[in-house]
Amino acid sequence: MRLTPLSRACGQTLARDLPPTGPNRIPLLRTGTVITPRFQRALEDHGILALWVDDGHSEGIEPVELLPEPVRAETAAKVATALDEARAAIGDSQTLAYDVLADLRDVVDLIAANITDSPDAALFLGDLAGADQYTHRHSVNVTALGLLLGRAYWRTEGWVDYRGERRWDRIDERLAKLGMGLLLHDIGKMVVPSEVLNKPGKLSAEEWALMQSHPDAGVALLDSATVSPLVRSVVRDHHERYDGSGYPRGIAGDHIGEFPRLAAVADVYDAITSQRPYAPAAPAHVGVKVIAEGEGRAFDPAVVGVFRRIVMPYPVGTEVRLPDGRIGVVAAADQDRPHEPLVRVDGSDVRVELGDAAAV
Ligand SMILES: [Fe+2]
Repeated sequence: MRLTPLSRACGQTLARDLPPTGPNRIPLLRTGTVITPRFQRALEDHGILALWVDDGHSEGIEPVELLPEPVRAETAAKVATALDEARAAIGDSQTLAYDVLADLRDVVDLIAANITDSPDAALFLGDLAGADQYTHRHSVNVTALGLLLGRAYWRTEGWVDYRGERRWDRIDERLAKLGMGLLLHDIGKMVVPSEVLNKPGKLSAEEWALMQSHPDAGVALLDSATVSPLVRSVVRDHHERYDGSGYPRGIAGDHIGEFPRLAAVADVYDAITSQRPYAPAAPAHVGVKVIAEGEGRAFDPAVVGVFRRIVMPYPVGTEVRLPDGRIGVVAAADQDRPHEPLVRVDGSDVRVELGDAAAV
């Protein structure tokens, strides 16, 4: 199968159910549906701009998803329910209730248990759900990618305890806390009006100040007696940048904790490669480029190093344009040479060096 732009999908057969929308969670279209111009228009209205399709040309090419779509949909729905309850209850208690946190802990476990640890690391992460589902699916995607990054990071670098000793044990405990922080990272957006959150154009100074208040607003919702400081650090500092250019505190380097340094990379990558209410999804290679360019500036170089081994710019199943103009489909990615995947073109697989603008 391959990922094709909606504009070229007419007459093609859908290879995967389209993510469900609405409260009844019925897939928008099922696998095997042939895309007609009418479907094309309807999908465009839903903000869906690319589809997985099957054709003889890409037979045997099976993309690996970081998290299977049914798990993504199920966990995003659970997050939505938990946060709706939290919003209703927040008036009296001022912090998230214990049972809401317990529900979210179960969601983290579900995500952690379903992450694909692909040996060829050719993960497809982009989210093709419509922009209307962005918020909760974004939390789930960031959790999945952040956990994958955290696991690879701590397995190679270890972690430093309060005595300054480097250790390689209890990584699962850290991952559980990291996952909780990632799932809750934007919880403070509850206080930002949706007109500001979804505004397509530039924000006014007042709106921007409101937007920048979401990390602190989020921490205020988490009771310090019951929520770990490591979880709270992700919520408070995920917009801090390695060079000090972030917000709300403008701290830099190691003053930003390890947890939020991991979260920042996962958050930015997913935001770029998912469809948002105000911006279309960019292909994986654009997201990888932004993270790579931010190495040492926006992002911790050690985290970027781990990210580059895990997230491929041209994941399996991506349509690409070859230097000679022909269109091919990525058949296999190579961790050591991420910009030179194996591409199926005219029935044979060839290794091609792809530039930055190669994705179709
Ligand atoms: Fe945020």
